[in-house]
Amino acid sequence: MLDGIHGYPLRKSMEIIVGLAECYDARRLIPIKSVHLAVNNVFGAGEIGIAFVKNLADTGGKFVTFADTNPVAVPYGNWKDIGISGEWECKQAELTANYAKMGAFLGNTCTPYMIGHVPSFGEHIAWSESSATVFANAVLGARTNREGGPSSIASALTGFTPDYGLHQDQNRYGNLEIAVKVELNDIKDFAALGYFAGKVAQDGIPVFTGIPQTLSWDDLTMLCAACATTGSIAHFHVVGITPEAPTLQAAFGKNEPSPSLKFEFGPRQLNQMEEIINNAPSSEVDLIILGCPHYSIARIERVSRLLMGKKLKREVWILTSQVVKCYAQIMGYLSIIEAAGGRILGEACQNMMPPGFFNQNGYYTVATNSPRLAFYVRGLQNMLSHFGTEERCLEAAVNGVWR
Ligand code: F3S
Repeated sequence: MLDGIHGYPLRKSMEIIVGLAECYDARRLIPIKSVHLAVNNVFGAGEIGIAFVKNLADTGGKFVTFADTNPVAVPYGNWKDIGISGEWECKQAELTANYAKMGAFLGNTCTPYMIGHVPSFGEHIAWSESSATVFANAVLGARTNREGGPSSIASALTGFTPDYGLHQDQNRYGNLEIAVKVELNDIKDFAALGYFAGKVAQDGIPVFTGIPQTLSWDDLTMLCAACATTGSIAHFHVVGITPEAPTLQAAFGKNEPSPSLKFEFGPRQLNQMEEIINNAPSSEVDLIILGCPHYSIARIERVSRLLMGKKLKREVWILTSQVVKCYAQIMGYLSIIEAAGGRILGEACQNMMPPGFFNQNGYYTVATNSPRLAFYVRGLQNMLSHFGTEERCLEAAVNGVWR
């Protein structure tokens, strides 16, 4: 492949993979079972990325591994309704078509594990999308590093990744402890815990203790996404939940965290995180967004119950995959949400919408239950944020003010 005998796409891909292997002193390449491709949105890819993907597709690149895609920059069913330009949509459609030409499954979601892409324990994979990467490692027990856009494409084309980092047993043990000393009653509490963990752990592997064994996939989804927001955590252990961590000892292996690497997450830390995420100075709210990461059908059913018979003074957007949106339609949740004045936006990520889009459309303050969303819209879309439970966000939508 490296010699170019099999053509340009495989030569370029192998150059990327060998370059990575040399950087990280990997001694061999290993076959992978699946890929999740993050940079299939025009905002993240930029002109260079768009041209790179087009070139690979035009020169005959074909994925040899199952590869699915992350959210795009346009909610395909609703882009006109929310005011996205046709130019942006065309650009996105062209990029998406090039991924499809190479054989990608267009899942267009950051929660691929909710639509059937569920790697099994111990499986080597090459996933990009930081929130999904943590989920694959920490919840499913699969093995992946935090891949970048080019390296994940290269792995999908060649079927290989370098053997280093989280592919190796010795690098998967915890190296700091976060003792949870407060009740986590809502997915937003798990998100706040992740926000805290990212800050203190940075690129470490935290071991969480004190989390009840009854936590749900939605709780874990929010925890994973927030961990990968304030830090670059790619793996963690929840004792009794993470497949590799049936006990505290198994989670740490031979690592013994020093006292300076033992942290407590109690009521004070929970309040502190909420104060940091809540940076809107007044009770004004322009828009409510839920579903970062993409919402599950269970959460959408819950939202539909909360909105049944209500009329919204502020728009509510729920982000999810097209597959989950279809279920919501079949089950009647979509019509309840739309009757109230809300929307389910399939396949999109708010952060990838055109730069300046929100302010240009009169949205300056968002209410959300996702600190990841709050963090990114601040930097990328110049917005302020309110942070609270789903109920509180939806009450703000009904009343037109944040309370
Ligand atoms: Fe998904 Fe975008 Fe949030 S990719 S995790 S909706 S920032």
